Amino acid sequence: MSSSPSSSWYDTLTSTPVLIATAVGVSFAAIFAASSSSSKTPQQVKEQVKEIKNAAVNAGDAKGKAAQTGASIMSAPATDLAPPKDDPISASDLAQYDGSDPSKPIYIAIKGRVFDVTAKPEMYGQGRGYNVFAGKDASKGLGMSSLDIKDAVPDYSSLNESQMNTLNQWESFFEKRYNIVGKVVP
Ligand code: HEM
Ligand SMILES: *[C@@H]1O[C@H](CO)[C@@H](O)[C@H](O)[C@H]1NC(C)=O
Repeated sequence: MSSSPSSSWYDTLTSTPVLIATAVGVSFAAIFAASSSSSKTPQQVKEQVKEIKNAAVNAGDAKGKAAQTGASIMSAPATDLAPPKDDPISASDLAQYDGSDPSKPIYIAIKGRVFDVTAKPEMYGQGRGYNVFAGKDASKGLGMSSLDIKDAVPDYSSLNESQMNTLNQWESFFEKRYNIVGKVVP
């Protein structure tokens, strides 16, 4: 079976990869995660992050909803979570768990509660797509759907209502999937 290349749906789709990824809502991050396992120059990595950020402007809303409902594009909730702990963890302790040492756990804090995301090195490990959130409280960036390092900070007081919703949805996403190992203390 053949059709005219210039008018086929295939051409339309492949000429606008970011749009497709946004519409499908899956493939772009999957490709991103997979490709970060091969060696990239810093410039290539920067380009990838920029592409993700641009696409996320459109995808953020859908992803927030997906996070809230636990929709099928996201990993399933955990069934074996431990009771939450409230051990004090300083910001500088937390910074050691940023994925740079593969022998250590990886932690991410949201609104001061520290989640153990060690099970997902392909997302949060060094050089991976979501490493920007590792070893810190990055509440503001999660609320903004931002992968920019300057947004990966604890103070989320600047978020507006919809960004607060997004942050709350991520919080609930993490609560369902990762053990809480402590709370950030000054
Ligand atoms: C084109 C834009 C994006 C797409 C298509 C996308 C897609 C996805 C997909 C499919 C997953 C699920 C992966 C899995 O469960 O294994 C995921 C996870 C996630 N995404 Fe994105 N993403 C995008 C951008 C962003 C941005 C800008 C942020 C910043 C807040 C973000 C934050 C996250 C987080 C925190 C997870 C949870 C990872 C986990 O712990 O399982 N994503 N994303
Ligand atoms: C919140 O801020 C974002 C980013 O500036 C904007 O797109 C969105 O419309 C704002 N939402 C509300 C409810 O103000």
